[in-house]
Amino acid sequence: MSLTEGPCEGGGIVSEVDRDDSGVTTRIQLHGLDAQTVAVAPGTTVRVSYVGDGRATLVAPDGRAGRHAAPPVRDGRRPGPPSAPPAPAPTIVSSPQQFNTHDLFVDMRSIVDQKLFCKVEGMNFAGSVKLKAAAAMVEAAETAGQLNPWSIIVESSSGNLGVALAMVSANRGYRFICVTDDRCNPQTRRLMETYGAEVHVISVPNPKTGLLGARLDHLKALCDRDPDTVWLNQYENPANAGAHYAQTAPSIARAIPGIEVLFVGAGTTGTLMGNARWFKQHRPDVKVVAIDVEGSVSFGGPAAPRHIPGLGMGMVPPALDRTLVDDVVIVPETETVRMCQRLAMRGFLFGGSTGTVVAGAARWLARHAHPTTTAVTLAPDQGERYLDTVYSPGWREEHFGTAGNLTRPHPLSDPAPAVDPSTTKE
Ligand SMILES: Cc1ncc(COP(=O)(O)O)c(C=O)c1O
Repeated sequence: MSLTEGPCEGGGIVSEVDRDDSGVTTRIQLHGLDAQTVAVAPGTTVRVSYVGDGRATLVAPDGRAGRHAAPPVRDGRRPGPPSAPPAPAPTIVSSPQQFNTHDLFVDMRSIVDQKLFCKVEGMNFAGSVKLKAAAAMVEAAETAGQLNPWSIIVESSSGNLGVALAMVSANRGYRFICVTDDRCNPQTRRLMETYGAEVHVISVPNPKTGLLGARLDHLKALCDRDPDTVWLNQYENPANAGAHYAQTAPSIARAIPGIEVLFVGAGTTGTLMGNARWFKQHRPDVKVVAIDVEGSVSFGGPAAPRHIPGLGMGMVPPALDRTLVDDVVIVPETETVRMCQRLAMRGFLFGGSTGTVVAGAARWLARHAHPTTTAVTLAPDQGERYLDTVYSPGWREEHFGTAGNLTRPHPLSDPAPAVDPSTTKE
């Protein structure tokens, strides 16, 4: 064994090597074992000899053994075999909102033929990106003294924020009422109810402000009726975007330092604004491109029926600051469901909005970027909540006819969507 740190020939890990000033005495610390000293000439190779029950001896070329003590006995047992690397520290949580995944990205090159990395946001107990907003808004309300044990949290949500708030409320001991509409998946509704939430489903749109307006009318009526209600108001609550400014954007920049373009889907625009603000302040070289769906009015397009929850709004999002956004791509829902199918055929089952952002990013990159441009987008949730909608051939047929189905059997033979300049702003 040469006298360097790292794995050694006989097994085990050398974690420390000291030489004294004369370069004659060498002390080697074997991980999990005792320190040993053997006097050897500089550059001499020594051997580690294992003698069973986790003990090792350092042996000089002339056969002299190193001086060592027995390995420390912990909890009545000797340490395990020295060849086992140290186990990573376990993650132990006492509340579901404590756990999230910050560094998981999918390389989309084999699917869209562009250098696009997709940050996975749905690997947490709430199953979506909305855990960050929910946890941050409840924490901010608690810090501000707005919540007490008999408070009833109320919120309007198309689904994911509702699930995340239902989970956090259950954990923190608050009642929660979610006001949603009939685009919310039945499974998502049942999830909220399983956490003990009440779900109010609105199906009659306000004649002027649509379904979202009707949801907000109902929510305001709930607040007027009961003084214990606390409306977190994800549309205007600074903690929504603040969570992405503090967590999402720095973790993207850390993981993909060569990022040149960031694509973010726009719902309330909490994710978009938090990321855009951070990148404008810390990495102004990165272009921020918003992705929205056809039928949403967020970026000035005409209102039209939409069928997939998550992205798009029936009003201009109050949090949206257009000056932080470099470009906008509008994606029709037919492209969303086709991209979701392509991803699923490569084994990645993501939610509807991931299909939208990946399709929009592929479209923008094909028009504006070089093959080497490094881009990142976010996958807000996983696909299991969409089995009866996006991933149901019958549902697709009902809403999009044959345009919603992949016509070819394998994603590799289904090229990225052709660029339609009418859907990009410039
Ligand atoms: C699946 C999905 N994607 C995207 C979004 C958009 O996130 P934001 O509201 O931060 O714009 C949401 C928000 O609910 C969502 O549920």
